[in-house]
Amino acid sequence: MKGIILHGGHGTRLRPLTHTGPKQLLPIANKPMSQYALEDFREAGITDIGIIIGDVYPEKVKEYYGNGENFGVKITYIYQDKPKGISHAIKLCNEFVGNEKFVVYLGDNILRKGLVDYKNNFETSNTDAMILLCKVDDPTRFGIAEINSESNKIKKITEKPSEPQSDLAVIGVYFLTPKIFTIIDKLKPSARGELEITEALQLLMDENNSIKYETVTGWWKDTGTPEDILHANQLVLDSIGKENQFVIDKESKIKDNVVIGKGTELSSDSSVQGPIIIGTNCKVGPNVRLGPNVSVGNNSILTNCTITNSIIMENCQISANVNLSNSIIANGSQIEANNEQSDHELLLGERSQLKI
Ligand code: DAU
Repeated sequence: MKGIILHGGHGTRLRPLTHTGPKQLLPIANKPMSQYALEDFREAGITDIGIIIGDVYPEKVKEYYGNGENFGVKITYIYQDKPKGISHAIKLCNEFVGNEKFVVYLGDNILRKGLVDYKNNFETSNTDAMILLCKVDDPTRFGIAEINSESNKIKKITEKPSEPQSDLAVIGVYFLTPKIFTIIDKLKPSARGELEITEALQLLMDENNSIKYETVTGWWKDTGTPEDILHANQLVLDSIGKENQFVIDKESKIKDNVVIGKGTELSSDSSVQGPIIIGTNCKVGPNVRLGPNVSVGNNSILTNCTITNSIIMENCQISANVNLSNSIIANGSQIEANNEQSDHELLLGERSQLKI
């Protein structure tokens, strides 16, 4: 079975973070979010992977994943000129997929439990498609499935309904057969100008094909907004030390829910409170309080600050008497401040310079 990761799109809700790269490369617990999809595929024995790249710095995706060798998989890149919809992206994979069953994973979705059981169930079934459903608080944000309470079968699938009849979101992992390609050929662009995956699934059902569903156990996260990213970071950090899947780097020192990368120095007057991950070759201190729910990327230097519930990416310098919370600071940013203590919630794009 082949796997496809969607790595295109514009990530407009995540600007300025997505001005300098695709959103799926933004780190969650120091690892690009799309790497979780890739590792879920690998764990499920799916090692022939197509990555859809779009028009936002696609070369950065190729640079990171290469031919997949370093990640134990084989990668084929498939270029999508504009984000014309998930179904449009899937159609581009027709040749790559051939006649096999396949799985599509949106590169901005993270699924705690991985794919192994779902993949095995799909592989041995005769169904034409299988989707995963997860209960959500805000059903207007997702594709939503209505289930017939008597037959327990899917009745209807709607993209972001304004008056949802169900709170079961169709998550961004789709188990498909090549039947979907002829269905996609019949779609018209939706109101948002996209070929929708939900419309393809609905049409597949309308044409009397079978669709199965499974309900997701454990958490699932779509990382569409900065708040979602911070929440995903917290959820992944919560699993660190408990679940091998989320341990990032074998050389790191891991104690309970604190991961400290190789070469990182922590001054004796500084403290960390897990869950937390600090990358390699960082300098933390003097006088730093970190955590809970903080990720710090490689080579960052932090002095005189308190940081909670935040993501500090690689090569950042924070030398300020500040309390940062609920913040995302992208690669190479610098924050300086005068001696007065101040509280901030910041969203800084790559190489920002801030004097407070
Ligand atoms: O996260 C689950 C939801 O994902 C589903 O419930 C919805 O039914 C589905 O339409 C999708 O909704 P979003 O509005 O969140 O999709 P988004 O535009 O964020 O795109 C999802 C991913 O696919 C994202 O990583 C970008 C990538 N993408 C998207 C489009 C439209 C592409 O690679 N190419 C595209 O043309």
